[in-house]
Amino acid sequence: MCGIVGYFGSDKARQYLLEGLERLEYRGYDSAGISILDHEKNRFVSVKTVGRVETLKKRTSHLKEAMLGMGHTRWATHGGVSETNAHPHYAYNGRFIVVHNGVIDNYKTLKADHLKGIDVVNDTNTEVIASLLARFAEKMTVEDAIKQTLDLLEGSFALLILDQDHPSVLYGAKNKSPLILATSNGDWYIASDLLALPSNTERFHVMSDHTWFKLENKTLTSYQAHGATIDFDFEAFKDLGPLAERGEHAHFMLKEMLEQPQILETLVAHHQSHGFDEALVTALKEASSLEIIAAGTSWHAGLVGKHLLEKTLMKPVNVHIASEFAYHPPFVSEHPLFIFISQSGETADLIACHPYIKTKEAPLLTITNVPTSSLSRMADYVLDLKAGPEIAVASTKAYTAQITMIALLCAHITHDQALSNDILTIASSMREFLQDHIKIQPLVKELLTNHHAFYMGRGLDYLTGLEAALKLKEISYIQTEGFAAGELKHGTIALIEEDTPIIALIGEASTSALTRNNIHEVEARGAKALVISFKSLSEPTDAIIFEDVNPMLSPLLLVVPTQLIAYYAALMRGLDIDKPRNLAKSVTVE
Ligand code: F6R
Repeated sequence: MCGIVGYFGSDKARQYLLEGLERLEYRGYDSAGISILDHEKNRFVSVKTVGRVETLKKRTSHLKEAMLGMGHTRWATHGGVSETNAHPHYAYNGRFIVVHNGVIDNYKTLKADHLKGIDVVNDTNTEVIASLLARFAEKMTVEDAIKQTLDLLEGSFALLILDQDHPSVLYGAKNKSPLILATSNGDWYIASDLLALPSNTERFHVMSDHTWFKLENKTLTSYQAHGATIDFDFEAFKDLGPLAERGEHAHFMLKEMLEQPQILETLVAHHQSHGFDEALVTALKEASSLEIIAAGTSWHAGLVGKHLLEKTLMKPVNVHIASEFAYHPPFVSEHPLFIFISQSGETADLIACHPYIKTKEAPLLTITNVPTSSLSRMADYVLDLKAGPEIAVASTKAYTAQITMIALLCAHITHDQALSNDILTIASSMREFLQDHIKIQPLVKELLTNHHAFYMGRGLDYLTGLEAALKLKEISYIQTEGFAAGELKHGTIALIEEDTPIIALIGEASTSALTRNNIHEVEARGAKALVISFKSLSEPTDAIIFEDVNPMLSPLLLVVPTQLIAYYAALMRGLDIDKPRNLAKSVTVE
């Protein structure tokens, strides 16, 4: 979704802003813009464009280097995709310039109450921030105008602000949307994502909610929302280097799928040597129920995790879709423990659940790939997935890392060394299968000739099918449904006709015969079925057969061919695999 970069340093504003915006491209966006200081005129100039940062680069090639500037990539929420709606946005009188991530919920009220008679140029909710600043600054200092504006804003925001009347100052503020301040060689860098920081960054500070800062001639003053100064504590920066690069791979998604066996092995090795926080283990044991909250692929990992955790802890584990939980919190047991599962750690739908969780005064565990993220900082316990940056919008390695993490936690609780070894067996089967991933291509070519497809299975296979269907639809745009095979005759069979593609997953012994019956039923109606199974449950006509593994962990292996099916389906359609249309990597608005 939207991304922010800022620079205040010697003379690299243009270079850094464009490089930083390029590094933010993976998050998904539809337009981009920068404001940069023109030293001759002592004023900021802005350039905005619809489409890629590459276009912005061309359109800013005439601009000279500068010591101060800010940039933005926009993913449209309020108002269509247009140059006018792209950031930066100006106040009605042109004085303040703002880039903004997040959504101001009360912008209509603010307009009505404070900006009567002022013409609105664009459809976004950001312009109101710049205009409020300008209106208040008519009567008070800029610092007081910022305080007053921040006081009025409801919703989420990461903001950078420039002032045409004082072009040697940059302000930033944050509530709910991430903003990071960093230094290197005496220069300041600001970004909404660690991945946008330059590789030579020395130290960084992840801003807390309700804080803001002023950089004046490179000197930092930091404040709490109401104006008292505070110290920002900075930590050492570790460059993610090649981990965030595509290398020889055609797509990040392919690279990330191929990394999975190594990630599983790293997690096993790490937790074998470091164990888990015993306070977390005690909290899990003492809780009367576990309430997992997640979205999308992470929700699917939570559904699998529920099976593992229930068997281990012998207590109810409920899995909630975050956007549902936030506004319709269900009845929860007396002493719950909440678990956020989130690759990015920034998903707004999960952040929106936090106020309710706080009222329960219950422990919170966050399982995430980004330990510096907002959801990590809200939690009492954090489990770091150690999967390395996931750049492709379609989540693959985070899903298998999330399930592995939960499995390892269960293994730790029950002292089950065999379970860790089972993960290592799966990692080698994955590696073997992935080595020859091209073999999926002809299967896809033959099977996925329609604009719709189905995945079916039972138990854990059904849950894998849900994830498989999401992956296929999001990157190939083939309408795909994952359903519990037992539900076939309760509705879905009505959609089965000649050549309907159905992929059946068979990893569960107790239901494999029943799912086989369902395959016969769809084939009898002309469907093309492709079966992925394990050896002891297989039939000679199955397209993909894995050696048997611990059935509790079967989703870890079964999901891999489904990821590749999605990848090759998108590849064969010539689609933008890493950046599918309309999707964003980190969903930072509700
Ligand atoms: C699908 C996908 C999304 C995310 C979802 C939650 O491939 O990536 O469904 O899983 O947006 O994101 P996180 O895990 O960052 O909270």
